[in-house]
Amino acid sequence: MCGIVGYIGKNNRAGEVLLDGLKRLEYRGYDSAGMCVMDEDRQQTFKAIGKVSMLEKKIAKSCVESNIGIAHTRWATHGKPSIKNAHPHTSGKIHLVHNGIIENYQQLKQDLANKGHKFYSQTDSEVVAHLIDEYNKKYDFEDSVTHALTEVRGAYALVILHEDEPQKMIVVRNSSPLVIGVADSEFIVASDASAIIQHTSRVVYLDDGEIAVMTPDTYYVKTFSGKNKRKKEQILDWNDEQAKKEGYAHFMLKEIFEQPESVSDALRGRIIAKDGMAKLGGLTEVEKQLRTIERIVIVSCGTSYCAGLVGEYMLEEYAGIPTEVEYASEFRYRKPLVDKKTAVLAISQSGETADTLAAIREAKNKGALTLGIVNAVSSTIARETDAGVYNHAGPEIAVASTKAFTSQLSILVLLTVFLGRQRNMSLTMGKRILSELQRIPKKIDQIFEGEKDIKRIAKKYSKYDSMFYLGRKYNFPIAVEGALKIKEISYIHAEGYPSGEMKHGPIALIDKDFPSVVLAPKDSVYEKTISTIEEIKARSGKVVAIATVGSKDIENIANDVIYIPKTLEMLTPLLMVIPLQLLAYYAGVTKGYDVDQPRNLAKSVTVE
Ligand code: M6R
Repeated sequence: MCGIVGYIGKNNRAGEVLLDGLKRLEYRGYDSAGMCVMDEDRQQTFKAIGKVSMLEKKIAKSCVESNIGIAHTRWATHGKPSIKNAHPHTSGKIHLVHNGIIENYQQLKQDLANKGHKFYSQTDSEVVAHLIDEYNKKYDFEDSVTHALTEVRGAYALVILHEDEPQKMIVVRNSSPLVIGVADSEFIVASDASAIIQHTSRVVYLDDGEIAVMTPDTYYVKTFSGKNKRKKEQILDWNDEQAKKEGYAHFMLKEIFEQPESVSDALRGRIIAKDGMAKLGGLTEVEKQLRTIERIVIVSCGTSYCAGLVGEYMLEEYAGIPTEVEYASEFRYRKPLVDKKTAVLAISQSGETADTLAAIREAKNKGALTLGIVNAVSSTIARETDAGVYNHAGPEIAVASTKAFTSQLSILVLLTVFLGRQRNMSLTMGKRILSELQRIPKKIDQIFEGEKDIKRIAKKYSKYDSMFYLGRKYNFPIAVEGALKIKEISYIHAEGYPSGEMKHGPIALIDKDFPSVVLAPKDSVYEKTISTIEEIKARSGKVVAIATVGSKDIENIANDVIYIPKTLEMLTPLLMVIPLQLLAYYAGVTKGYDVDQPRNLAKSVTVE
């Protein structure tokens, strides 16, 4: 899981485009960065450990003006972060950058070493450079790449250069994302469009098993077996501004505050108010099949998994369809019992999460109908599912997912209404849910009015090492999501737990140094939640309660209270999560951490 960029053109600006691209892709990994540029007479490679800014310092003004180059920002998989392991990797006159994992690299490495190749890094990626170089003894550049690929197993997006052919760049995709940006007299390739949109909105998505051979004037695409492919250009509607911070201190904060808009965008054009019905264009083709579905299995990871858990409560209660949620990483290795009557729904912001993709492929093999709720348009999961709904949340740059989550919840509500109305949901109920859903963006804005208080509370609790996040029913998944958020941003150990389970063991942990965030909306389980707070208080535990406006009684028992507006019980997760995102954000900021790029994490986990 890394970010890769390639440039070929006529404007002598390879260095600047590559560096800018790396900065935009840094969220994909930041263990090291590197770049290789060349002209007719020379080739220059620069590498640095850590963030792209370190590479930028190293390059300073020594980078040649060039029309071709490749660059890479790394999230280490094979070999620790070091200069030797930083990309680009080189063998002879071959230079390449790689995102993915070469599964059979050890065997290939051994074979190549027996032929006299010397390896400098511990990476799997370097092996590919040597393999191409080996074939280059017999074949030209292009054929060497094609031959090498027949031996490589695994996931890879590659951008490859040959010193003797500074007018040619070869790009390969197999199970790792890659996009080509098409501009006037130049092409930019990258792991995703955020490194391209500032140069052009015209893009071509390579599919698995495709190779693009590019010159400054043109390019063509063929399959690994040599068959020419005609690719359709798409126009991106993400502009450059959307990918910038717009004055916020961090992308995470910007994205938290974008939620009234991103929830509205998820709903736009998808509500038929008079019919109490959701209109989901992406499901039209499978509408009939959906009527016959008897079971739903949701597969996802991390925050998207938490969204799935909320979906389970909604779909069972309001659509009447038995639903299960599975960690995608587990689903792929179990023997999942799915069939034609099962819809397997993948939820993924990036649309590239390897575990979720593998789960969907497994479900497809078993004959299930596969569906997606995906943010990244034309991403692999979006393309491989039978049907699906896009989030339209715009690019989410911060590693911690925020706006994608509430967008996923919004679409799950729409899906619940859609499937519910196909079954037994009444017109009145459909109308009620949808009209209340449309009020959510304004209600999120109201929560932001309490930002100062949330910031103060976050500061106060950021000194603790461990915390509980407790919730019941619809808000149990939000407790899990809140705990995940504070773990990844502020490195506080947190457990998201069902409130009712507390007394079966974990309560032993409670003391004055182990606070709890208790999710206590005025819902059907409110009284029980109050009992949980009492139990914690009786053991000297501190409590931050998130309650519904008007629940004044809670102030007498909780140490701190944050209020959210009233809404339908099933929609409370959409509001409840907002203070939790802000708590995590401000706890991380208080502790001086890099909240946009927390340690050990990457935005899109495209490896197992
Ligand atoms: O792109 P996806 O939604 O498939 O990603 C799933 C998880 O990797 C992701 O939600 C991760 O847990 C985030 N860092 C959470 O903030």
